[in-house]
This record gives sequence, C-alpha cells and structure tokens, in this order.
Amino acid sequence: MKCDRQTLPIAAIREENPSLRTFTFHGALDAQPGQFIMLTIYSQGEKPFSILDVDDNSFSMTIKNIGPFTSRLFEMQVGDLVSVRGPYGHAFSGNNDKVLMVGGGYATPPLRFLAKSLRETGVGKLVNINGARTSDDLLYVDDFSKLCDRSLVATDDGSLGTKGTSVDIMKNVLEEETFDQIYISGPEKMMSAAVAVAREHNIPFEVNLERYMKCGVGVCGSCVMDPNGFILCVEGPIVDQDALEGLEEFGVSHRGKTGAISPL
Ligand SMILES: Cc1cc2nc3c(=O)[nH]c(=O)nc-3n(C[C@H](O)[C@H](O)[C@H](O)COP(=O)(O)OP(=O)(O)OC[C@H]3O[C@@H](n4cnc5c(N)ncnc54)[C@H](O)[C@@H]3O)c2cc1C
Ligand code: FES
Repeated sequence: MKCDRQTLPIAAIREENPSLRTFTFHGALDAQPGQFIMLTIYSQGEKPFSILDVDDNSFSMTIKNIGPFTSRLFEMQVGDLVSVRGPYGHAFSGNNDKVLMVGGGYATPPLRFLAKSLRETGVGKLVNINGARTSDDLLYVDDFSKLCDRSLVATDDGSLGTKGTSVDIMKNVLEEETFDQIYISGPEKMMSAAVAVAREHNIPFEVNLERYMKCGVGVCGSCVMDPNGFILCVEGPIVDQDALEGLEEFGVSHRGKTGAISPL
C-alpha cells in the first residue's frame, strides 16, 4: 500500500464561481488523469478529491463548498497548511485514437486533466462535450476549446451553447462521427444515460464513479460496490465497460457515510 503523504501550504486559490474554487499546491505528484488524492485539514478530517492538473512541481483540485470539510477549506488562505496523500486509484486508459469526452456539472476536472495529457501524447481526434445547469456552472470552457479539436457546450437553461444536456449533444455527435473511445465524467444519472448511448453505438467507454471514501486505499470497505465487492478506491474510480457490467448499483443506489443504501 502506497502512502506518499506531503504537508504543503496552499500556493494559490482561484474562484471559479461563488461555490467553486481551484486550490493549487507546490509539490510533486506523480499522477495520471482520473486519479484522486486524500486531503487532510488537521481540525476537520480527510476527504477525497479528483486531480485537475499536474505540472512538474505543482498540482491542483477544483472543489465545491458543500459541507463542513469544504467550508473549512474555503475559510483557509494562501500559505495555510494542509496535508495530501496519494495519488490513488485507477486512471483513464489514455486511448489516444479518436476520443470523445462527455462531461457534466462539476465532475469535469478529470476530463480537463485527461484532455491535456492526450494532447501532449498526440491524440488522433479529441472532441469534448461539456454540460451544466447554467453558464455559471460550466467549467474550463476556454481550456477545453484550446485542448480539443472540437469543444461543444450544453446548458439546461440555454444560457450558453445548446439548450439541453451533454447526453443530448452526444447523441447528435455520434450520428455524424465515429470514435474509438468515450470517456464519461458527471453526475451518475447523466453517466448512466451516456453509457446507454455508448452501448447503442458499440463504442468502448469508461466512467468516473464516486462513492463514499474514508481510507482511499482498500482497507475500510466504505466504497465497496454491490453485488461483487468491487473496491472503487482501488479498482476505480475510473471503471471500464467490463467492470461496470457487474455493478448493479450503478445509476440506481449508493452507500453513504454509515454504509446504509440510498437511491441516487
Ligand atoms: C474519488 C472522488 C473524487 C472526488 N472529487 C471531487 C472534486 O474534484 N471536487 C469536489 O468538490 N468534490 C469531489 N469529491 C466529493 C468530495 O469528496 C465531497 O464533496 C467532500 O467530501 C464533501 O465533504 P464536506 O464535509 O464538505 O460535506 P459533507 O456534508 O460531509 O458531504 C456532502 C456530500 O459530499 C459527499 N461526500 C462527503 N464525504 C465524502 C467522502 N468521504 N467520500 C465521497 N463523497 C463524500 C456526499 O455525497 C455528501 O452527501 C470526490 C469524491 C470522490 C469519492
Ligand atoms: S475508501 Fe476504504 S476501501 Fe475504499
């Protein structure tokens, strides 16, 4: 089991919108797109976050203020100390032929990291679809348009791009173009709809799943998925179509902090 823990000052904080900030840390992190870190605030515990970007000596995460841990993080300033361990988990496969990325809401950071990595390794064709409720909720629109051959936007209210969801656009794109691989990251209901479309077109896909994670390294059992005991923090969070086939709770239910099952 790997536990590369680093105690680091916050190096930069960028506001993306009133409830979303990108936190950057100076430090080396040997991470692949789709992996996550466990972030500790000493008075508040430890939580998992996806990696948005990695450079030679820095890395960043985009974080939504949603509860006690993230509220405490939002009170912190540049220079305050946190602790990071990781990276953990199974990354995107990095197929770099003709690639379609389908993102929804605030789950797009791993796709932003993937787009940068695929561009650096010489992707054949890279098309991104970025969907959110409103234009204020869309992330990295400029970055995706720079990194991708084609970058499409959908909002539920039509405030930017096409009115509708990223899955609506995905259906249209797949009528016109073919792809070798689809990478999907968004709310689970959205990913479930995107998976059905990918299956119809018989294109290999991978999804980015989230479950309640306490240890991040396969010890505590909190992220284990029904019915086959898939350990998401180690075998995921990026899950391919073969592994997803066995996960009956995908798109249906999940376990919370206590292990109790709730509908999605
Ligand atoms: C692999 C992975 C990657 C993630 N990446 C990001 C990211 O890039 N940006 C981001 O803003 N959030 C991300 N999350 C979710 C993030 O961990 C939660 O938003 C955070 O833990 C909330 O803690 P809180 O105390 O502020 O809120 P709480 O009030 O404790 O929780 C609010 C909601 O956050 C989720 N949550 C809380 N604790 C956990 C936990 N230990 N594991 C998983 N989900 C939890 C639950 O859905 C809960 O209902 C990720 C989760 C996982 C599992
Ligand atoms: S979070 Fe502990 S086993 Fe996955």
